[in-house]
Amino acid sequence: MTLLRIDATIQGPASASAALADLVLDEFRTVRPDVPVVNRHLAIDPLPSDAWANAIHGSFTPEEQRTAAQVEALALAAGLADELQAADVVVLALPFYNFGVSQHAKTWFDLVLAGAPHGTRLLEGKQVVLVTTRGGAYGEGTPREGWDHNTDYLRRILVDVWGADLTLVEREFTMVGVNPALDEFTELAALLKKEAEEAAVVAGRELATR
Ligand SMILES: Cc1cc2nc3c(=O)[nH]c(=O)nc-3n(C[C@H](O)[C@H](O)[C@H](O)COP(=O)(O)O)c2cc1C
Repeated sequence: MTLLRIDATIQGPASASAALADLVLDEFRTVRPDVPVVNRHLAIDPLPSDAWANAIHGSFTPEEQRTAAQVEALALAAGLADELQAADVVVLALPFYNFGVSQHAKTWFDLVLAGAPHGTRLLEGKQVVLVTTRGGAYGEGTPREGWDHNTDYLRRILVDVWGADLTLVEREFTMVGVNPALDEFTELAALLKKEAEEAAVVAGRELATR
C-alpha cells in the first residue's frame, strides 16, 4: 500500500492547506505507520509550464518525428499518471488562488490527463482526501457566492473523470487575522478552523481504517 500526498501551496510554512493535510497524515500514520508516503510538492518543485503543450503535440505526432521536448513531456505525463494510479490512497492539499485552481495544480491535472489514455479512471474506487482552503467565504448568500472556481473543477476531475471516492476537507476565511477588513469574522473564522481540523483528523482515520 502507498499513500500519495500532493501539495500546491505557494505560502510555505504559513500554508493552511498543508497544515490540514499534516493533520490527515498524522492521523493516518498513527493507525498505519507501515505505509510508505510519496510526496510531491507542485509549488516547490514545479512542473514545466510548456510540458503539457509538448505532450499534447507529441501525442499527435508520429513517434519517429517527435522532438526531444515532446518525448520528454510525454514521458513526464505518463510518469505522473502512473504515480497517481499506483497510489492506493491519495491526499491532495490544493489551495484557492485568484478565484480558481492554483496554476501549479492545473499543470499537474493537465499533464496527468495527457499521460493516460483518454477516459482512464485513474482513481476508480480509491479513497482520496481533498483539502482545500480559501481566504474569503463563498457560500450561499455571501457577496461572492459563485466565485469559487476551484472546488467544483477539482470535484469534477477527481470524482466524475477519475472515479475517486472523495472526502472533501475545506476551510474558509483563512485570511481573517491577516486582512484587517475581515476582522468582524474573527469568531466565525476560528469556528471554521476548528471544524476543518476535526474533519481532517476524521478523514485521516477513515483513510487508514476503511
Ligand atoms: C496569490 C494569492 C491569491 C489569492 N487569491 C485569493 C482569492 O482570489 N480569493 C480568496 O478568497 N483567497 C485568495 N487567497 C487566499 C488563499 O485562498 C488562502 O491564503 C488559502 O489559505 C490558500 O491556501 P494555503 O494557505 O495553503 O496557501 C489568495 C492567496 C494568495 C497567496
